[in-house]
Order: sequence, then C-alpha cells, then structure tokens
Amino acid sequence: MRAWPPAPLTEAELEGALRPFGAATMLPATAYTSGEVLAWERRHLFAGTWSCLGRADELLPGGVTQRAVTVGDVPVLLTPEGAFANTCRHRGHELLAEGCTSARDLVVCPYHAWAYRLDGTMRAAPGSAIRGLGLPALPLTVWHGWAFVNATGDAPPFAGHAGALTALVGPYAPERLTLAARHEYDVRANWKVIVENYHECYHCPLIHPELCAVSPPSSGDNYELPGAWVGGSMDLREHAETMSLDGRSGGAFIPGAERRRVHYFGLLPDLLISLHPDYVMTHRLRPLAPGRTGIECSWYVPAGVTDAGYAVEFWDRTNRQDWAACASVQRGLASPHFRPGPFTPGEDAVHRWVRTVALAYRGEPPVSGA
Ligand code: FES
Repeated sequence: MRAWPPAPLTEAELEGALRPFGAATMLPATAYTSGEVLAWERRHLFAGTWSCLGRADELLPGGVTQRAVTVGDVPVLLTPEGAFANTCRHRGHELLAEGCTSARDLVVCPYHAWAYRLDGTMRAAPGSAIRGLGLPALPLTVWHGWAFVNATGDAPPFAGHAGALTALVGPYAPERLTLAARHEYDVRANWKVIVENYHECYHCPLIHPELCAVSPPSSGDNYELPGAWVGGSMDLREHAETMSLDGRSGGAFIPGAERRRVHYFGLLPDLLISLHPDYVMTHRLRPLAPGRTGIECSWYVPAGVTDAGYAVEFWDRTNRQDWAACASVQRGLASPHFRPGPFTPGEDAVHRWVRTVALAYRGEPPVSGA
C-alpha cells in the first residue's frame, strides 16, 4: 500500500500530537471542526482502511440480494457474492441508491439500464455490443461476526489491521452471541472526540457515578500490541460480577470470558468493542458532519438470554453522560480560546490513538508496515 496524501493540516499543527507521551498535546481544533479534514478522513481513514458494516448476518436478510451503503465517501454495493463498487461502468450513476435494498437477481442501472450480475460481471448494455465492463470487487471479510470492507480496494490485508486484537476478542466468540438490544444515538460531537472519551476514565469520577460504583476508574492496563487498534481493561469491584447498576448479571456468563475484568477496544476507524463477562457491547460510529456523529450501540448476549435490560439500562445511562460531555467538548473546540491540552498520566491510550491519527494525517497509513 502506498502512503496517503497528507491531510489538510500543517506540520506545525500536528507537531504537538507527535511528541512522546508526557510531552505531547492533543490534535488541533481544526481536526475536529473542519469539513476538509473530515473529507480526507472519509476517503483515507474510513474508505481506505477497513470499515465495519455491522453484523454480517444482518446485511442481506431473507430475500435481499443487494444493499447500497456509503463507506467513507465511496458508494458500495453488497450482494451475496461480495462487495462491489456501486458505480456504473457507463457514466458513473449509482446502481442502487444509498441505504436502499433490492431483491432482484440483476443489478440494473437506473440511468441507461446497463445490467450486471450479482457477481459484478456485466450482463448487457442496451442498444450496444459493449461487454466485459464488470464492477470492481472490493475486499470484504467477516471477523468475529462483523463484516468489514475496504472500499478503496488498496488496503493491506485485514489480518494485519486487526493484529493482536483477533486473539484478545476470540475467547468471547462474539459470532456465537445474539443481538439483544440496539440504540441509535445522534451525538453533537466529532467522531474522534467520542473515541478519545472512550479510551480514558479520567472523567469517570465526575460524570459516571454508576460506573465508578462497579469498576474503579483508575484500575486496569492498556495494551501496546500490533494492529490498528487501541484499548485496555478495567477491573470489576469485588461485589460486582458485571457492569450493571447493582453489579449483578441478569443474563449468563460467556464461556471463555474473563470474569473479573472488562475490556475496551477501539478498532480503527469506527468500531468500539466492550467485552464483559456476560455480554459484548459495540459502538459503531458514522461521522455525519465535523461536529456530528451517528452511533449504533448494540448489546450481544449468549443464546437463551431473553432480557439484557440490566446491561442496556446501565450503558444507556452511561452513554448519555458521555454524549453530553462530548458535545460540550465539541463546543469548546470551536472557541477561539481553545488550545490543544497536554495528557495526564492515565491518558496513555488516548495518546496512542491521537498519535496514530496524527501519523495518518501526515500520510502514514495505520499498520502500514504490517
Ligand atoms: Fe449507468 Fe448509463 S450510467 S447505464
């Protein structure tokens, strides 16, 4: 994979974020407020790496043979045969409109009716003998039950992207868990503000009393292992068997799960994975604007568990506390008085994330050497 063109940020603006931990500062405000930076991120960090499409078994439910999604800034068509560029080989019209599905066994362009099979090969161009102009196939993989696509088609393999995270998530076998609940949030903050908030618990004593009651905010360690991800673990207090308002589980423990720790992982660019003894929670992020992010929060439980309300109630409350803080940070970032602040000793995971993003802005793809 070649290096990326640099983001519209200057070396001087990124210099602070690239210093070693202890001397580094956060990213500049424009990284969170600029439409040009977000456009660069959509092309390179989202389309140019491996974006999560959600659970593989939900993408093409019964009878659906085509689904159109936008990955970063790239229109993508999903079929039972894989992922393809959702861009007609004639004049570029989208073959299926963003967000739409179809049950047809042919992909027919709405503009001049060029037709393609579900494997991307060309079927016909009405009124012409043109043949052989198929749709580019895009790399698609399923990892622990989630589907990931590389929409530009030129990223290194997914195995290096996930790196050591594959083995850390493996014991929880998320692919065997079932969806218990899903919430959609519309947060008035840049997507990176949300990731940075996820990777530190320095804020927990002030805004998360329920979380601190079941998990000491300064507990745990962060990993430094290969892959385009950041994360670590936190302990459960002695009385707590999971993250819930009273510390009790209302479900069933996952075979193979750690019983005294909760893991928090952020797989670049858009999937946050929280591993609990009895459930897995994910936040899937979709940047809607520099200061606005759509978040799909899902709870997955072992088969047979019918009510995950204890987990949903706990995290919905905690989520909303976080979203309020993130929205306030976003307003602060827009102030002419904002200056990138330093990291405190417990914010090493945030630093690792910020440094990864800053290097990407300079043109170094995450895990480019993998
Ligand atoms: Fe698709 Fe013309 S652009 S058939």
